[in-house]
Order: sequence, then C-alpha cells, then structure tokens
Amino acid sequence: MRYITIALAKGRLADNTLSLLEKIGITCEELKDKKSRKLIFVNEEQKLKFFLAKANDVPTYVEYGAADIGVVGKDTLLEEGRKMYEVLDLGFGKCRMCVAGPHMAHDLLHHGELIRVATKYPNVAKDYFYNKKHQTVEIIKLNGSVELAPIVGLSEVIVDIVETGSTLKENGLVILEEICNISARMVVNEVSMKMEHERISKMIKDIKGYLSIKSD
Ligand code: PRP
Repeated sequence: MRYITIALAKGRLADNTLSLLEKIGITCEELKDKKSRKLIFVNEEQKLKFFLAKANDVPTYVEYGAADIGVVGKDTLLEEGRKMYEVLDLGFGKCRMCVAGPHMAHDLLHHGELIRVATKYPNVAKDYFYNKKHQTVEIIKLNGSVELAPIVGLSEVIVDIVETGSTLKENGLVILEEICNISARMVVNEVSMKMEHERISKMIKDIKGYLSIKSD
C-alpha cells in the first residue's frame, strides 16, 4: 500500500483538522509534539504521511500531487485559484471575506471612485472589484496586519477576513461590504482521487458521517 500524504495549513486549522481526523480513527502521535522541528510526520500503520505548510502553499502541494489531500481555508483556495477537487466543507475556521475601512469610506464604494485597496488577497479583491462591482481600483498587496493600511493612509479600504470582528473594532474600522463566507475545506489532487479512490472516499465518507452526527 502506498502512503497517502496530507498537507495541513499550519496553525489553528491544523489543530482542528487533527482532532477531526482523530474522531474518525486517524491519528498521528508525532504531530502532537509541538517542540518538534520535523517537517514530515508518518503513521506507519495507517500508511499516512502528514506535513505542515504555510496556508498559501497547501494548494500548490495538492495541485502538483506532492500531497494527495490538503486542508486549507476557502480564502486561500480562492486566492490561489489552483486546480483540484474541493470535496468537503469541514465547518470550522469560519469567517467572512469583507471589504472594511473607516465608516466614511462607505461612499467611496458607491460612487465607483478610484480608490486604493490593501489586502493579502489581491486576486480575490481584483475579482470582487473588477468583475462583480465593476469598479476600477488600485490593489496593494500586503502580507499581514492589513488593518493598518487605512489607519496610516496607505489605502482607503482593505479586503480581509473577519472572524470575531475585534481587530476591526479595536482599530476603529467597520465592515463595509461582505464578499463571501469562508471555512476550512478538504481538497484532493485530481489524479490521487482516481488512483486512491477507495481510501480517499472512505476518509471523506467517514468525515461526512461524523460531521452530520455532530450537527444533529
Ligand atoms: C486575520 C485577519 C484579520 C484578523 C481577523 O489576521 O487578517 O487581521 O485575523 O480576526 P478577528 O475578526 O477575529 O479580529 P491574522 O491573525 O491571521 O494575522 P495577519 O493579519 O498578520 O495575517
């Protein structure tokens, strides 16, 4: 039996994924050791390999088949736009992709003005403003703490994910428009889905079964 490799987005999503997998009898003891600097973890018995990667890299590993399966946020999937099967909404990591800014930026979105939009998600922002709103904007790519941009005058608004809303609130910003809902998704490489159909579909079926019992 060959190994099935699972790529997890580092951080909270990985922790949630591992507890979900445990519920369906898939474990990886090695991965629980937070001090470990190892990059790849193996469950010999179940013929599974796991690795942790930066969220944005997970779709890349899955598209190229370096990982058969990945778990990553829908925000990352939308931004990376890679080719693979999105098989399950895992129901955690819920948040919203939004346009946010100071309250007074509201008007700028309704009068089609040429504004600057700072974001970690340039493709999502481009698609929203150009294809959905038909508003020409200048998109500025940032790598984090995007809420800073309208405060220091880098941009009028931001496109970012909002979970609890406290980062916006504590910085005097508000949600101006909602783009879409986000949650963690399971994705599968297109070839792996055919070659390892039995094992992968069983995993999907078991997770679906567990999630439906949980939501009852
Ligand atoms: C995310 C996001 C917001 C914040 C939203 O950032 O980009 O900044 O969380 O969460 P909230 O609505 O619960 O306040 P993250 O913590 O990933 O850090 P980063 O901005 O450095 O990427």
